[in-house]
Amino acid sequence: METRRPLIAGNWKLYKTNPQAVEAAKQLAQMVGHVSDRDIMIAPPFTALQSVSDIVAGSAIKVGAQNIHWEKEGAFTGEVSGEMLLSAGCSYVIIGHSERRLYFGETDRWVNQKIRAAVRASLIPVMCIGETEEEYEKKNTLSVLDNQIKKGLEDLDFDSLAHLVIAYEPVWAIGTGKTAKSEQAQEVHRYIRSLVEKLFGNGLAKSMRILYGGSVKPENISELMSQPDIDGALVGGASLNPESFSKIVLYR
Ligand code: 13P
Repeated sequence: METRRPLIAGNWKLYKTNPQAVEAAKQLAQMVGHVSDRDIMIAPPFTALQSVSDIVAGSAIKVGAQNIHWEKEGAFTGEVSGEMLLSAGCSYVIIGHSERRLYFGETDRWVNQKIRAAVRASLIPVMCIGETEEEYEKKNTLSVLDNQIKKGLEDLDFDSLAHLVIAYEPVWAIGTGKTAKSEQAQEVHRYIRSLVEKLFGNGLAKSMRILYGGSVKPENISELMSQPDIDGALVGGASLNPESFSKIVLYR
């Protein structure tokens, strides 16, 4: 059986000034910087990427950005390119988070362009997908995900997607304290993997890591990780506190 290395990722969203991010990164490096059997990523705001990267350099903790622009450079006020993120020490980038889709009009087409930009800059894209509460209640989860995956990955090939990570985050579970039951999440993850298999083949489907996100905490991580198709977590609120994030990283 293919073994996928677990990835525990923290999305700091719009939290932490530079000194606060530096302090949290120092504490995290002490607590989990030595870990060798799983991957760890934290995604601070743009302003703290370089300083956090400097602190975690050489440890097990990798740094990710929360967004990327698809152009390498140009007259695009307020945007940041993959090449810039790489030079600030990033190895990952979160793309298409539901908050970006909801508040900033991010479309599947942009997600597709951003994944291409990440691959061009040698960054690992973490593509976020997930259904809203309304879609969930109408039992449209799988068709929504189907659409997001097909459009987000349109015309991309196996080589470009070799390192792609997908994060399934049901919108109704983000920041609400409601988590999908682990069996329910497993069912969706299994569906995502089967769709990836249909679109890109068995090799990619077997190696691709699919993270779960939405109110992940030290109390529910072990149960989620015991599911065969859940390969890690994308953690919001509980990643802001180094102690709780460490507990999630060190789940057994
Ligand atoms: P919470 O863990 O705060 O629910 O956030 C999840 C999330 O959006 C991670 O990207």
